Amino acid sequence: MEQRSIALDGPAGAGKSTLAKKAAQHFGLIYVDTGALYRCVGLYVLRQNVDSQDIFEIVKLLPDIKIEMKHDDEGIQRMILNGEDVTDDIRIPEASKYASDVSAIPEVRAFLLSMQREMANKYDAILDGRDIGTVVLPDAGLKIFITADPEKRAYRRYLELKDKDDTITFEEVRDAMVSRDKNDSERATAPLKAADDAVLLDTSELDLQESFFALCDLITGRFGL
Ligand code: DC
Repeated sequence: MEQRSIALDGPAGAGKSTLAKKAAQHFGLIYVDTGALYRCVGLYVLRQNVDSQDIFEIVKLLPDIKIEMKHDDEGIQRMILNGEDVTDDIRIPEASKYASDVSAIPEVRAFLLSMQREMANKYDAILDGRDIGTVVLPDAGLKIFITADPEKRAYRRYLELKDKDDTITFEEVRDAMVSRDKNDSERATAPLKAADDAVLLDTSELDLQESFFALCDLITGRFGL
């Protein structure tokens, strides 16, 4: 059966989460940030002092990880890791690096797959990630691949992070992002790539409002919402 769900994939800093949140609010959809699931696994592994490349040890940890995804009254997704709200902790730079590393492990991807599909089966949802259109929801009603120039994506991410930590430099953010993109695109299992039937949305030359309108046009055009 065709799903009303929307798959929004693309690299870091392309604007996926900001745009998906706005669109979900606008159209009354549930927004699912699937990267947060990988970040929870990454944070858990980091806290156990296990190396992010140690596949054998990481796979052994999986049965100890319980992740819950909740949406508060404002529709904000809260991430609960073994009973603790880690919504803010999963955003630290080490957790980003760990998330990217653990996401290359097939067992980790399999571990998180059913949660993502359940959300899409239960709700009309917009899921943002890297492999939503290719693997998680191959029958999604609409697939969008959002991208933008790497320098622009890095600068957007830099502005976001600088708010929380004013010692951070643009070069640091750009280098970490380039390395994460490379990791995410070159892994063997479910690499970051556009589904054959995805619509491409390049936000390099668009500001937030223009990108949002472009996304809304695609959703309205597809579902008549
Ligand atoms: O979207 P994000 O930057 O918060 O995601 C964190 C990491 O998780 C990212 O480096 C790649 C990985 N990820 C993935 O492999 N598949 C997804 N559907 C979402 C994220």
